[in-house]
Formats: sequence, C-alpha cells, structure tokens
Amino acid sequence: MQIEPDVSLKRWNTFGIEARAARYARVESLADLQALRATPLFRERPVFILGGGSNILLTRDVDGLVVHNAIGGIRVVDRDADHTVVEAGAGVVWHDLVTFCLDGDLGGLENLSLIPGRVGASPIQNIGAYGVEMKDAFDSLEAMDLATGDLRTFRAEECRFGYRDSVFKRGMKGKCAITSVRFRLTARDHRLNTGYGAIGAELERRGIARPTIRDVGEAVIAIRRSRLPDPDQIGNAGSFFKNPEVPRATYDALKQDHPGLVAYPAPGGMKLAAGWLIEQCGWKGKRVGDAGVHTDHALVLVNYGKATGGEIHALAHEIQASVRERFGIELEMEVNVV
Ligand code: FAD
Ligand code: EPU
Repeated sequence: MQIEPDVSLKRWNTFGIEARAARYARVESLADLQALRATPLFRERPVFILGGGSNILLTRDVDGLVVHNAIGGIRVVDRDADHTVVEAGAGVVWHDLVTFCLDGDLGGLENLSLIPGRVGASPIQNIGAYGVEMKDAFDSLEAMDLATGDLRTFRAEECRFGYRDSVFKRGMKGKCAITSVRFRLTARDHRLNTGYGAIGAELERRGIARPTIRDVGEAVIAIRRSRLPDPDQIGNAGSFFKNPEVPRATYDALKQDHPGLVAYPAPGGMKLAAGWLIEQCGWKGKRVGDAGVHTDHALVLVNYGKATGGEIHALAHEIQASVRERFGIELEMEVNVV
C-alpha cells in the first residue's frame, strides 16, 4: 500500500470532474487499512473514504487523505435451509455481488442489479431501485472508527435506514470506514418483487410468465440501460436529487393546480417524481457551458466534458430555486457534495 501525493481524482468519480487529492492511498484489505491508520498521516485529518465515486460531486480539491476502499472478497458466512448470509468486502463492485448471488440462486438483490459503485457505499444512502432497497436484504456491517481504529458491528436498527438515508449520512457521517457488509438472502422460495410497473412490462415483452430471480435481474438491467445515461459515455451520478416526500394534503393541493403531477404513495404521504417537477420548470436538456440536465431524464445532471463541480453545483441550486418558486417544493440533493 502506497501513499501518493497530489493525485487526480478525475477517473475516480463518475461525473469525471477534475479535482486533486493532497494524499491518496488505495487499501485492498483490512490489514492495509489498519496499517494506513497507524501512519501519522492518518491523524492529519480530514480523511475521505472513496468507493466507486458514483455518488459524489467534487467541488474542490480534497485537502487531506483520500482512502480508496478496494477491500475485496465475497464469501458465504452462514446458511440454513431457507437463507444464506453472504459477506462482501467494502471494495467489491456492487454488481459483482449481485452476479455472485444470481449465480448461486440467492434472492434479494436482483432488483438492485447494475447500480454503480461499491458494496461499502451501499448502506450509506441505502441504495434502492425498482421497488427494493438494500435494507430489505441487509444483515449487518463492520466498520472501522476512524478516530480510534476500533472495529464495530452495526445491525440494521443501528443503521437507521430510510429512503436514501442512514445514520452514515447523519450522526456517523465521515466518522467510520465501512469494511464489509453482510446480506441475508433467500436460498429458496424467493419473494420476487415485480410490482414496479416497468419490470412487469419488460417481463411481458420477453414472454416470461413465471420469472426467476435471474429473469428479474435481466429485466432490471434492460430497463436501466434504456433510461439512465452510462457514465462511461457522459459524466453523471444518477439521480442528483431525492424524490421529495410530502404530506397527503400538500400532494392533493398540488395535484389540483397541476393535474399531470407524478407521485407515488410513501410512508406518511406521497413521494413526488422530482424528474417531473424539474422537467415542468423547463430544465430538461438545458446546458450551461459543460454542465447540463440530461436530455432524456431531468433528474440526472451531466458533465459534457469540462464542467467543474462548482458549475454543476450552481446549476443544481438554480434548479432548486425554480422548483421552489413554481411548486413550493424543496429538492434535497441526493449526491454527496464534497
Ligand atoms: P462513492 O460515490 O465513492 O461514495 C459515496 C459516499 O459514501 C461518500 O460520502 C463516501 O465518503 C461514502 N463512502 C463510500 N464508501 C464508503 C465506505 N466504505 N465507508 C464509509 N463511507 C463510504 N443509487 C441508488 O440508490 N439507486 C440507483 O438506482 C442508482 N442509480 C445510479 C445510476 C447511475 C448511472 C449512477 C452514476 C449512480 C446511481 N446511483 C444509484 C448512485 C450510486 O451508484 C450509489 O449511491 C452507490 O452506492 C455509490 O457507491 P460508490 O462506491 O460509488 O460511492
Ligand atoms: N419523469 C419525468 N421527466 C423526466 C424524468 C422522469 O416526468 O425527465 C417522471 C416520469 O413520469 C417517470 C417518473 O418521473 O415515470 C419516475 O422516473 P423514473 O422511473 O426514471 O424514476 P425516478 O423516480 O426518477 C428513482 C430513483 C432511481 C431509481 C429509479 C428506479 C430516486 C432519487 N431515484 O428515479 O435511483 O433507479 O427510481 O427505482 O429515488 C439514483 O438514486 O441515483 C437513482 C438512479
């Protein structure tokens, strides 16, 4: 493990933003991370843990140590007749874990196929897609306290998972490095989740009446490829904002003024489609320099090449202001702004 000075982070973030790390180290094992922690440099804060860089917007150089978490390994740690518990290192590519599960006929993660990023970041915002959230299959995780170096296990209730939310975005933000995550998966009698409209339609299009978990995974992959821009083609970090959750009464009032409003039931009210709100404000396909709003999906901000993080951040603020003015709704950024 080497500590390198002044490293470009451009290829390590899916927005493709040029920013530099004052110090950069890649850790491939828990032992690497512990050795790094023992160096005096580690105490010179800040320390920033980087996974796949698919949910960050770099608006400045990182004036500290960037720890690129590449801790690998996937293994079965427990099993009974109905369930199998799989542990994955924080640096495992998320979709490699999904593939491992599908190859072993283990159910629970198939709806989360092809989400970019690494396993270690999946609990941070409790990744979700197509009717499933990571918390639905989560068992526990292990994390190193950055201040003390102690390893600690977090069970689900301690993680306080919510919609794109967890304790790691709140009280524990920046305080620990997740080193591995365990998932409890079904080994038989899989509970397929095909309720999300697009999945049903895709399975029907494929003529599949009794889908397997692999069929669901493949349907999700096809849907994602048709809807979301590939960061290898154009810099982006997926949805830039969360879909705002509002009380039912707020939704009813908005719906009266805007009959086309797209929304879904959510605990405690309704979740509004932020993409619709942004599109209605005229932002879809807009471009300011090299920062832009994707032509096919208004919730995705893009870097056409040389945009700075500051330019994308400024565009995001403009979008927030117009949605606030037109609908009285506050859009919260989903992406982690650094
Ligand atoms: P990074 O961007 O590297 O880090 C994100 C945050 O987590 C940072 O604050 C970082 O410090 C912290 N972090 C990362 N690893 C660790 C660790 N081991 N310990 C402690 N802190 C850590 N997300 C969804 O939920 N659903 C989707 O459908 C979805 N679709 C996407 C589609 C595209 C095209 C893109 C580009 C992104 C999409 N995302 C989606 C967002 C993103 O893929 C997820 O949030 C993913 O979990 C981020 O993983 P990462 O390893 O890239 O994290
Ligand atoms: N819509 C528009 N205009 C647009 C985009 C969307 O009107 O430009 C409307 C459409 O009516 C569409 C609806 O919004 O049917 C919902 O759009 P979509 O199905 O693409 O889903 P989303 O709500 O935009 C969320 C997640 C995604 C996740 C998908 C599938 C959030 C913030 N985003 O997107 O997650 O993959 O659902 O479950 O919850 C991410 O977090 O980065 C991400 C991509």
